[in-house]
Amino acid sequence: MRLHAAVDTNPDPKIVEIDLVAREADVDLGNGERVRAWTYNGTLPGPQITAQAGDRLIVHFKNELTAPTTVHWHGVQVPNAMDGVPWHTQPSVLPGDSFTYDFRVDDPGLFWYHPHVMSAAQVGFGLYGTLLVKDPADGVGVADELVLVLSDIGIADGRLESPDSGGALGMAFGREGNRVLVNGHTNATLTVRDGAPQRWRVVNAAKSRYFLLDLEGETFTIIGRDGGLQARPERMDTVVITPGERLDLIVAPRRPADGGTRVLRSGLYNRGFGSVEFRQVEELVTLSFADLPPYPPASLALPSRRIEPIATAGATRLAIDITLSTRDDGTVEYGINGKAFADEHTSTARVGETQIWNITNHTKWSHPFHLHGFFFQVLDANGVPVQPLAWKDTVDVPFEQSVSFVVRFDDRPGMWMYHCHVLDHADGGLMGMVQLLPKE
Ligand code: C2O
Ligand code: CU
Ligand code: CU
Repeated sequence: MRLHAAVDTNPDPKIVEIDLVAREADVDLGNGERVRAWTYNGTLPGPQITAQAGDRLIVHFKNELTAPTTVHWHGVQVPNAMDGVPWHTQPSVLPGDSFTYDFRVDDPGLFWYHPHVMSAAQVGFGLYGTLLVKDPADGVGVADELVLVLSDIGIADGRLESPDSGGALGMAFGREGNRVLVNGHTNATLTVRDGAPQRWRVVNAAKSRYFLLDLEGETFTIIGRDGGLQARPERMDTVVITPGERLDLIVAPRRPADGGTRVLRSGLYNRGFGSVEFRQVEELVTLSFADLPPYPPASLALPSRRIEPIATAGATRLAIDITLSTRDDGTVEYGINGKAFADEHTSTARVGETQIWNITNHTKWSHPFHLHGFFFQVLDANGVPVQPLAWKDTVDVPFEQSVSFVVRFDDRPGMWMYHCHVLDHADGGLMGMVQLLPKE
């Protein structure tokens, strides 16, 4: 279940240069099921790009699909022109056309790439892959390291399901695929050594589905989130990952007394009206145990990181109200402060400015709120401070609750998008733009 690796064609050790082609391909989902999906380089997920912090990444992208597309580098602090947002940062890449993405990856962490044209459809059809930026000095001594791409795909009669199934209600809820995938497979398996610590870097690339990770009583130690290591490790019995988010965690699964297997599951999680009724727990990965003696118990040095809190004194405050309204023709649309994206909801910021965004969700569904291009620090949820400190680019704003974060805009002027990462919600109006103006 390991991911395919992108091939670096550049001999310079500080440059990673790859070819990336979006095209349809038959993929094997496991259990003998195949489907014609939309892929990067023919695989689902697309190939993992691996770089070291500080490297230059050059991606020669070619669109061999029948629809226009772009590549967005989720979480990477790219120059605006490399952000992959059509009309605002680049033209769409038309069928048969190419575009070269070229930027430096300075922040270690797990990032991911996906289209930004008809995102719900294109991501749902299989277009996503990971970008792992390593920090050789992070010193996490584990027995094994793995990247887990959680996603789903909708199949009907052996083909990709229509991206607008369920009509307006499907949009309001956020359509989930009917096959749950880990690294592209419905029946992922992993062999581990009893008690050996594993580092799992997890991304939720599903267009709408939340995952509530549960490993049969084993605890997870979270060491990092979207933007790399967090201030200190945190132990949890179960952990939620929303679309767009990443987790860096340590687990040390033990062989059960009966000698059999352990299963990583996704439990029922309430992300709003209709999300837990008549639903079942999903099995994600079956862990079997290598025929080796238990790993010698050793205390693992868990990493912590010095993260300076962004100074909030003098910050500009921005209120973002997430709304769902009914149009004159009876259909519904999401919006920000009552306005759908079609009405161009734009705010402004200046290079060097610090802003506190207070997001209030007035709807019956939760929204993983994502800002392009900049990391933020979550301050509080419903007024309760959030700890430990971590760099984030996507944060869940649960239904009928509020979250605030602080962001400092560095010197990368341009139009930066923000939106809900339930991609049907984004397409349904839950998007906005912040125009970052150059220094006065
Ligand atoms: Cu994954 Cu506009 O983002
Ligand atoms: Cu993004
Ligand atoms: Cu949403």
